[in-house]
Amino acid sequence: MRLILAPMEGLADHFLRRLITAQGGFDWVVSEFVRVVDRPLPDSVFHRVCPELLNQGTTVSGTPVRVQLLGNHLDAMAANAQKAIELGSHGVDLNFGCPSKTVNRSQGGAILLREPETLFRVVRSVRQALPAEVVVSAKMRLGYDDASLMIENAQAIESAGATELTVHARTKAQGYAPPAHWDQLADLAEHIRLPLIANGDIWTPDDYRRCTSIVGTEDVMLGRGAIRNPDLAFRIRQSSTADTTSWHQLAPLIGEFWQEVRLSMPERYCAGRLKQWLNHLRQVHPEAEQLWQRVRGEADIQRLDNDLRSAAKLAA
Ligand SMILES: Cc1cc2nc3c(=O)[nH]c(=O)nc-3n(C[C@H](O)[C@H](O)[C@H](O)COP(=O)(O)O)c2cc1C
Repeated sequence: MRLILAPMEGLADHFLRRLITAQGGFDWVVSEFVRVVDRPLPDSVFHRVCPELLNQGTTVSGTPVRVQLLGNHLDAMAANAQKAIELGSHGVDLNFGCPSKTVNRSQGGAILLREPETLFRVVRSVRQALPAEVVVSAKMRLGYDDASLMIENAQAIESAGATELTVHARTKAQGYAPPAHWDQLADLAEHIRLPLIANGDIWTPDDYRRCTSIVGTEDVMLGRGAIRNPDLAFRIRQSSTADTTSWHQLAPLIGEFWQEVRLSMPERYCAGRLKQWLNHLRQVHPEAEQLWQRVRGEADIQRLDNDLRSAAKLAA
């Protein structure tokens, strides 16, 4: 069983990667994407997206982090993959799933799922630029408008030499609308030999059991489920029957997150960052909903401090 924390640009930043991986259970983490246009990027870009590179490429709790690259320029992708590895990334992941209009307009992310030949060339260029023992993984969706090229795309990635493939079980057109189509991953698994990592809508240990039995793999990538329940991977490994992280466990983590954010971000961004996470947490934790109601209109740092302190006291 391999459990991976998903790349989530603007959400699973290094604060949450640190906090979530500290709960245990994850084998590795994929960073938010580094956008590659047509040239090698300076070290500072890699360090901004993935500060863990300054810590031997691991989170504080020791979980390896793999830098994700997004782009289609063959030489630039190869050069930046080399740079990521030099800086300490544990392998390189290639993004073929991003649905953003801006990214797709410049021929990056999910739009490439219309062109299996381009996928092949990008993966091969990165593969050839790196020593054989370095992992080159890819992440895609079922397709762009539909899943008609799903198998061709995955086979292009495989024949270009990728080590493993994560598939978010939706097309770009399906966005994030439930359900995730795990059955299509089962179909795909019959047509490829490279290890398949299933992704999409695994919110609970029970979802893990259902997804893996349908797809026929034990390896999954967890995204929003781990944002809402940071110990999801740990509970999956324990075969837990609990669907959520207890509030007793979660409240101190929110306090810890707030302290980290306050220490590292300009004051004007702190409240927004906290509210973004609370907005996810309140989907499944009634206590987070109450906290959210208290802090949603609040921008004053001292008052937010007080609100969080009293929430932590109530949970203790
Ligand atoms: C806010 C947000 C940002 C994301 N950013 C990325 C990204 O940078 N790279 C990527 O490959 N996928 C990205 N994704 C997709 C996730 O990695 C994952 O495939 C998707 O959320 C489905 O998994 P889940 O249902 O477990 O969340 C993002 C998803 C969200 C919600």
